[in-house]
Amino acid sequence: MAMKTIVALPGEGIGLEVVDATCELLMGTGLPLKILTPPQGSPLPDETKKAARGADGVLFGAAGPSTSPVVSWLRWEMSAWAGVRPIRFFPGMRSPLVDPDGIDYILLRENSEGLYPGREGELADLVNVMPDLSDRTGRKIKEFGDEGRFAVKIVTPKGAERIARFACDLARKRRARGKPGKVTCITKSNVLPRTDGLYQQTAERIVREAGLEFEHFHVDDAARRLVRFPRSMDVVLCMNLYGDILSDLGAETAGGLGLAPSGNFGDDGWAYFESVHGSAPDIAGKGIANPTATILSAALMLEHMGMGAEAQRLEAAVGRIYRDGKALTPDQGGTAKTREMAQAVLAAYR
Ligand code: NAI
Ligand code: MG
Repeated sequence: MAMKTIVALPGEGIGLEVVDATCELLMGTGLPLKILTPPQGSPLPDETKKAARGADGVLFGAAGPSTSPVVSWLRWEMSAWAGVRPIRFFPGMRSPLVDPDGIDYILLRENSEGLYPGREGELADLVNVMPDLSDRTGRKIKEFGDEGRFAVKIVTPKGAERIARFACDLARKRRARGKPGKVTCITKSNVLPRTDGLYQQTAERIVREAGLEFEHFHVDDAARRLVRFPRSMDVVLCMNLYGDILSDLGAETAGGLGLAPSGNFGDDGWAYFESVHGSAPDIAGKGIANPTATILSAALMLEHMGMGAEAQRLEAAVGRIYRDGKALTPDQGGTAKTREMAQAVLAAYR
């Protein structure tokens, strides 16, 4: 197997702890991996950008107030537009649901449009250029007065189409493994028929053309369904903000925020991998963060680098640790430290 180069960017807070533990685990596997840890800094140094652009895999920890430029660069400047967030229950995870067995779906978040990465302004400026912009009741924005702010939500056919095609690819791959191969699209098109409506209609067209099953729910209904009927989900296609919110909800149904990994894919095969959670200042520095989300993100990264069998083996090792229940961090009812849990996964991997 050829040597692969990984760039590790821990971010801050528990990002440092979970990336450290995961890198130590990866080195312990004996796989031909070289891990680089270039400086983070703000703005992100050019040498770091160069290393991350050229790496076979990029593993990110978690951003906080001082490292948000790192995630800005990874997600938006590198245009990693497809956020793949598997939600999967492993027996032994501390799910709050009565019957979480069999939860296994992918929440796919459109990462590049919608309300992100934040375009805001003064209402007065908007009134100046579009005084007659009105809502569905006919009320014009100038009627709100001069004081206030606005945010811009963007939906383009190109953006909606490429994420819908990505959803189809995922659904096809899952169908080949015995899953339903269904795409569930989530919007708020009843209130936003032009923006969310465009996303919904585009998704429906692409998914039906692909010969796959399609369904659509409004985001409020969808939140309820992800709690009540999580097993009925296969590929859940979300707009940016809804995907951000619902992936935390989904993570919690499986057992907690410390468990949910992600892979973020851009053009030309470039991708970076990160946990769904943030820097968790409330528990940072204590060595008790759950490393599962980052370990599972590393598994997604191994798969991306052409080490599919090793990725499966790593996921199976995580599964064994939860079944045994002896090396779990406090969020899962155990007393293990971050590093101890990662080392137990390594032992199970071996
Ligand atoms: P958070 O995800 O950092 O924490 C939410 C809650 O979940 C906290 O109680 C935390 O202790 C717990 N938690 C998170 N990860 C855990 C783990 N691995 N093991 C055990 N418990 C865990 O979200 P919060 O507190 O809203 O944000 C903190 C900072 O993180 C903010 O600056 C925010 O902007 C940033 N953030 C960054 C993200 C990223 O880098 N992709 C994603 C979400 C938040
Ligand atoms: Mg989030």
